[in-house]
Amino acid sequence: MRNTKLSRSVNGKVVLITGAASGMGRATALLFGDEGASVAATDRDAGVQEVAATVTAAGGRARAWQLDVGDRAAVNEVIGDIVSQFGGLDVLVNNAGIARNAAIDADDFEAVWAETLLVDLTALSYTIRAALPHLRKSESPRIINIASTEGLGATPGISPYTAAKHGVIGLTRSLAVELGREGITVNCICPGPIRTGMTAGIPEDAKEQYARRRTALGRYGDPEEVAQMTLSLSLPAASFVTGVALAVDGGLTIRRA
Ligand code: NAI
Repeated sequence: MRNTKLSRSVNGKVVLITGAASGMGRATALLFGDEGASVAATDRDAGVQEVAATVTAAGGRARAWQLDVGDRAAVNEVIGDIVSQFGGLDVLVNNAGIARNAAIDADDFEAVWAETLLVDLTALSYTIRAALPHLRKSESPRIINIASTEGLGATPGISPYTAAKHGVIGLTRSLAVELGREGITVNCICPGPIRTGMTAGIPEDAKEQYARRRTALGRYGDPEEVAQMTLSLSLPAASFVTGVALAVDGGLTIRRA
């Protein structure tokens, strides 16, 4: 017998995570698995199989799909398959992303722009459009998009990424307003510097120097620290939170000196 009505559990919910083979997507899949959700782990990389196996080995429920989010037909097919395997869809986590350097006058700028905008922004519309009919049947439908602190500010030389991540925040706010009456919440997370595949190439001393100078906590974040906030926004109890861009950045965006 409880005195309150909102649940702080995703036990029994079905969650779809894109880019689940590595970094934050992997950490998110493992966390939802630990919390009793049915995890649909997807990634263009075959390594996603290992992530589903790790969830299952720990007693959780998971399956893996190899999926390139930039392939709209494949997105539609895989989401249909997930729903038929797991019986529905409650939470969509748009996490897959790429980051490439490209100064505005670089020779490969147009190629980087096209690929980054496709994977980091346009693909979110593919998964959301395919997921929507199923989310509409959920008791607590949630969409969580992984943006970046690059959606709130800018670093020189990566304008395709920065433009895409600003776009993710715009898409999140727009759909929060468009879908709110249906009880669907749409939020995004803006991670700061996190230890993942994306930042693995940055030397350790450069990482430490940057984190000490730029964040309040003085360190890089761990993928699970982002996954925990994704889980929080996915809870039935998070029912009145929508359209937010939540910085999970160790204080990067507030620090001035
Ligand atoms: P990661 O490189 O470790 O993982 C990204 C995953 O996305 C990989 O498994 C990759 O195979 C997958 N992926 C890439 N393109 C794909 C596609 N077309 N279709 C399907 N899967 C695809 O990187 P990380 O850091 O875990 O990235 C997750 C999200 O977090 C991304 O959206 C990224 O932009 C964002 N982010 C990362 C930050 C960091 O410091 N690591 C900071 C802010 C945001």
